Amino acid sequence: MSPLRLEGKVALITGAAGGIGEAAARLFVEHGAFVVIADVKDELGDQVVASIGPDRCSYKHCDVTDEKQVEETVVYTLDKYGTLDIVYSNAGILGELSGVLNLDIEVLEKTIDVNVCGSVAMIKHSGRAMVARNIHGSIICTASAGASRGGLGPAGYTASKHALLGVVRSASRELGMYGIRVNCVSPLGVATPMSCTIPRIKQFRVDPEFFEQYMSSISNLKGMVLKAKDIAEAALFLASDESACISGHNLVVDGGLPESTDTFPVNVTRSVMEFMRWSITKFVPRYIYGLFRQNVDSTSS
Ligand SMILES: NC(=O)c1ccc[n+]([C@@H]2O[C@H](COP(=O)([O-])OP(=O)(O)OC[C@H]3O[C@@H](n4cnc5c(N)ncnc54)[C@H](O)[C@@H]3O)[C@@H](O)[C@H]2O)c1
Repeated sequence: MSPLRLEGKVALITGAAGGIGEAAARLFVEHGAFVVIADVKDELGDQVVASIGPDRCSYKHCDVTDEKQVEETVVYTLDKYGTLDIVYSNAGILGELSGVLNLDIEVLEKTIDVNVCGSVAMIKHSGRAMVARNIHGSIICTASAGASRGGLGPAGYTASKHALLGVVRSASRELGMYGIRVNCVSPLGVATPMSCTIPRIKQFRVDPEFFEQYMSSISNLKGMVLKAKDIAEAALFLASDESACISGHNLVVDGGLPESTDTFPVNVTRSVMEFMRWSITKFVPRYIYGLFRQNVDSTSS
């Protein structure tokens, strides 16, 4: 078997100017694919292309909430690379960090627009292109560990990801007739710009290390540090021929979760405890080392 699991394949990835999508773009190219990076952040998208290499990938502006742009991005990919084997519909937003009692319906609609309608448009237009060309492709969507249970994310986000899972299951049935696979990859929290930015207070960033430790603390697999690359590896599996017989599947990447997990509404006691634990492991060794250095410096002078 070739060590390059996507040799010569063409992939289109949305939300690939950063975070999980960028990690997937890098990994897919490492495995021999040509990749179209689609996003709304043009400058970041161009930077990702420059750093991966413009001979293997290209950037296309695509707001997934605009169906026309989605269709044009599929056409762009076909024109540029001649085919379309893999679609990774990954663009997503968190919406608002609130429970149902305070949910702003307009924000909910926007969240559903990106997380659900954006993926539906991508499945629709890439599916049509694959059917018309008899391509037995692989379509993957990024859902979430919160797509199949409550209490892991804000109410609107959870609703949108549950809906996305329904879209994937239904599309896998319909497109399966044409030999096209449709699956989900569902991460638990990964430190990315989306998860570490508090909506409405953009200047406040959650420390990525703290976020990772907090996620590890709720998972069964203690010591697990989930990275964007781990999610990209799961997407690579679903994109490659190694998963040729898998469709309609929700591949959850969460280190295993206990039956009941409560992160939303935010559990303040747990957050404070985890923050203290994290601060102690991060700052106390530095403090002791500082004291030690001071001691050494004063004895030698
Ligand atoms: N990071 C996590 O903890 C986590 C957990 C579960 C699921 N997810 C999902 O993973 C996916 C990627 O998120 P991430 O964590 O890498 O976040 P991110 O913010 O780093 O990346 C999301 C990308 O999507 C793009 N995007 C947003 N709206 C768009 C639109 N309308 N059209 C095109 N692109 C758009 C953004 O510009 C960004 O580059 C999302 O679907 C998210 O819901 C993330």
